[in-house]
Formats: sequence, structure tokens, C-alpha cells
Amino acid sequence: MKELSKITETFTESVIREMTRISDSMGGYNLSQGFPDFDSPEKIKIAAIAAINNNFNQYPVTFGEPELREAIADKVRRYNNISCNYKTEITVTCGATEAMIATLKAIINPGDEIIIFEPFYENYGPDGILSGATPRYVTMNPPLWNFDYEELEKAFNNKTKSIIINTPNNPTGKVFSKEELKFISDLCQKWDVYAVTDEIYEHILYDDNKHVSIASMDGMSERTITINSISKTYSVTGWRVGWAIAPARITERIRKIHDFLTVGSPTPLQHAASKALFFSDDYYKNLRLKYTESRDFLFNVLNETGFKPFKPRGAYYIMADVSDLWNIIKPTDDYDFSCKLIEKTKVATVPGFSFYSKSDKKTKQVRFAFCKKPETLNIVKELFSKYL
Ligand SMILES: Cc1ncc(COP(=O)(O)O)c(C=O)c1O
Repeated sequence: MKELSKITETFTESVIREMTRISDSMGGYNLSQGFPDFDSPEKIKIAAIAAINNNFNQYPVTFGEPELREAIADKVRRYNNISCNYKTEITVTCGATEAMIATLKAIINPGDEIIIFEPFYENYGPDGILSGATPRYVTMNPPLWNFDYEELEKAFNNKTKSIIINTPNNPTGKVFSKEELKFISDLCQKWDVYAVTDEIYEHILYDDNKHVSIASMDGMSERTITINSISKTYSVTGWRVGWAIAPARITERIRKIHDFLTVGSPTPLQHAASKALFFSDDYYKNLRLKYTESRDFLFNVLNETGFKPFKPRGAYYIMADVSDLWNIIKPTDDYDFSCKLIEKTKVATVPGFSFYSKSDKKTKQVRFAFCKKPETLNIVKELFSKYL
């Protein structure tokens, strides 16, 4: 039979979803995939049921129901200091995942380079390949996951089309500072580069960290595509409602790609999302408090059981160095570490290599997702204390 597409030959199964599958098959505790194991907010569920009963059940406006686009424009004006026209500058997509690929497809030509900070959310690798871009990686170094300004400067050149920013960051928990974003924005303007920024964890911040949207910085609104979704902020990862905000000339292209890819994100869930975007400040305050407790709890558990965790400043993951546990687990590499850790403790993690471009599996890091019930995290504590 004729060969299948060459592009897909290079893809591997998402390691995160693979770990989830292994964990499910063993009745394990899944700290690998970033989805909550607690209930979604009652108010958003009621809004979705009401939308279905009110007959919002057919195709939506392809690029997003007007009610949701208006709510997004209102929310980013209040929270992100971004002003955008909901009629021409917003595309509602099936999650941030589709927003990212539709954006890259809309701006990239073969041979263009994109800059990606490493470690990175694992979808950005395949996104780059699917869009035909050549990735250039710039390292973020633990414990604070800072990057070297000179290294970033050297990554920019005439072929650079775009830089992907993810703040707060998965997997590191880094929150990009205003100063870092200013440095990036100066380079984007110098080299005429588009900033594509994934801000899906914008409300999950710890201590006194503040979220800054690069689109709000001087000279950036015309060259920034801001991506977000309701998945993490409202604990509804299965709903698939996200968006891309971009100047009209870019939005026009994103909308075309989006139309052919998926037609639209589920209509009733868009209506429910538009209600969620008007939740009061208390909702976001409680979200932070809850996740701060979970972060501190898991961070202490990891410290006490032989891991060397890096404290996140945002998002809901902890990266940890596992070199001190190497002799206990006796793995051959990162991947093997995560597999043996599930066997020994029933706790699923993501091996560090899946966040790096080099696939030699030698990072000696793993990532834990702590968007889980206190009961789940308590069991993890017991299991690690018993088996490690
Ligand atoms: C940084 C980042 N972007 C995007 C996504 C996926 O978002 P969505 O569920 O909106 O497609 C995730 C999910 O873990 C993520 O961590």
C-alpha cells in the first residue's frame, strides 16, 4: 500500500496521554495530565444546561458566538489591558490547542523560523512541524527558569517569523516578568516578528506574581496573537472552548484556517463560557487560594520524599529533579523513571524529556500536575512516604 504522510511518521504519541492510560489501567493516581479531578463550578454547569434548553444546539457563528466574543473583549480589557474589536479581532476555537495550530498555520511559510522557550508545553513541537516552521529553542534554566538574554538575542534573525511565549508557563511554573517581556517585545519589533502568547494559566498565580500580557506593551498589539481558553481557569478541560485575539488582518487568516479545521467550538458551551467570563473577583481569588494550598502541600511532600522540586510561581505543575531517587528507582532513563515510579507507587508523572527538543531522555526531571483534590494529594503523600 502507498505510504502514509511523512509528517506524521515523526510524531510520537503524547507521553502525557500515554502516562494517563498506564495510570488508568493500574487504578493509579494521575498527576501526569493537567486536568482537575474535582467538580467544575456549579454555575458554569448550570449555564451550559440552560444554553442547551434554550436551543443553542446548532452550528455556532463559525468564528464564535457574538455573545462570547463580546465577553472576551470585555474581559481582556479589564484583566489584560488589551483593547480589541470583538467583530474583527477574535476567533473562538476548540480550545487553546486549536487556536495555536490555526494561528501558526495563518502566519508561517515553509522555511520560517519560530523561537520556542525550552522546556515547553509538548504540543508546540508538533505544532511547529505541522505549520512547516523550523523551531529554534532558547533554554530556561532551573531553579528560576530564567533565560539568557544573549542566547535569545542570537536566536532572532531575518528568517524568524514568530516567538511562542507561554506565561504562566507549563511545565516550569515560570511567570515571565515585565522586564523579560519588554526585552522580548523590543526584539520582536527590531526583527519584525509576531509574538504568539499562550496565557491559559493567567489566573493561576502564586505569592505576589502578576500576569502581564505582551499584547498590552508598547508597539505589540499589531504583532501579537493572544491565545487563551476556559479549560484551566474554569476547570472544564473537556469543553473545548478557546480563542485567539489578533489584529484584523491576522484574524481574517486565522478564521479561514479555523473554519476548515473544525467549523466551530460547541455552541451551548460557548454561551456558558460567556457567563463564566463575568464571574466575580471572588471566584479568581478562591481559585488562587485553592491552588496555593495544593502547590504548598505537594511541594512539601516532594521535598520530604527525595525529590528536588522547583517551586512554581504560576500554573499548576511542579517540575522536580529526581537525581537523588535514581538509586532507589534504578531507571535506565527519564521515561523508565516515570514507568517504574507508577509500578512502585501507583503515582503517574510526566518524564521531563517530553518537554525538551532533545529526545535522549536524560533530563532527570519529572512533572507533577497538582490540580487534584486534597484527598488525591493526601494519598500521593502516603504512597510516596511508604514506597520511596
Ligand atoms: C500551555 C498550555 N496550552 C494549551 C493547553 C491546552 O489547552 P486547551 O484545553 O484549551 O486546548 C494546555 C493544556 O494542558 C497547556 O498546558
